[in-house]
Amino acid sequence: MIDIHTHILPGLDDGAACTDDTLIMARAAVSEGITTIIATPHHANGAYTNTADKVAEHTHAINEQLMAAGVPVTIMTGQEVRVHDDLLDAWHRSEILPLASSCYLLVEMPSSRIPKAMLELIHELSLLKLKPIIAHPERNAEVVKHPERLAELIEAGAFAQVTTHSLLGGFGKRIEQSAWSLMKDGLIHIVSSDAHHVERRGFRLREAYASIERRMGEQWVSYLQSNAQSIIEDKPFHIQPAKVSSSKGAVRRFLSYFYKN
Ligand SMILES: [Fe+2]
Repeated sequence: MIDIHTHILPGLDDGAACTDDTLIMARAAVSEGITTIIATPHHANGAYTNTADKVAEHTHAINEQLMAAGVPVTIMTGQEVRVHDDLLDAWHRSEILPLASSCYLLVEMPSSRIPKAMLELIHELSLLKLKPIIAHPERNAEVVKHPERLAELIEAGAFAQVTTHSLLGGFGKRIEQSAWSLMKDGLIHIVSSDAHHVERRGFRLREAYASIERRMGEQWVSYLQSNAQSIIEDKPFHIQPAKVSSSKGAVRRFLSYFYKN
C-alpha cells in the first residue's frame, strides 16, 4: 500500500519528534503492508515552515537510515501546504513540493471554512499544470455543512483526500459521518493516514480499506489504491466506480467532466 499524507520526517513539525519516532512509525507502516510513504510535513501553516530543499534533504537522510536499519519502506518527498496568499509566488521560488515529484499538490484549508480565493487558486494551479489534492475535507466545518461546496472545488479541478482516522471514528461521530458521506457521494479520491505518531495517530490504512470494502465494495478499494499509485507514477486518476448512494441530492456532478483534465 501507498500512504500519500504523513508526518513521518523527524523534528520538522508536530509529527515524529526524532529519528527513533520515525523508525518506529516506519516499522509500524511495514507491518500494515505499506511499502511507500510520502512525507508531507506542514508548510506555511503559521507554525511550521518546511521548504522544498529542507524536506528533500531530510527525506534523503531518513531513507539512508531506514536502509541501514533494514526497514523495507521508501519515503518520498512532499508537503502539506497551507492555502495562503504567497503560495503561487512560493511555487515560483521553488519552495513548494508536489507529492513524489508528480503534478499532485497536497493543500490544506483552514478547519473552519473554505478560503474565499480557493476557486481562483485551483484555477491558477491548473495553469501551472498542478492538481491540488485537498487534505481531509471531512474535517472542514464548511464542507461538513455544505458538501456541495467541495463538489464545486472538485469540478474546478481539485481532488480530495480523506483520513483513515476520520473513517474509523477517531475524530468523533460527526466527522466519521461526514467522511463516509463524502465517500459515498463520490467526492473522495484518496485515502491516507495523516499519521503523526504510532500511538497518538498511527496509520490504520489497512483497517480503513477493510472498512471501505465492507461498506462500499472491493471496487472502491481498488479505485482508491490505484489513485495512490497514480500519484507515485504521475498519472491521471482512475474513473470512479458507481456511487453507492446518490440520495443526498445536493451533489450532482458529471464525473467524466473533471477526469478529462
Ligand atoms: Fe497532515
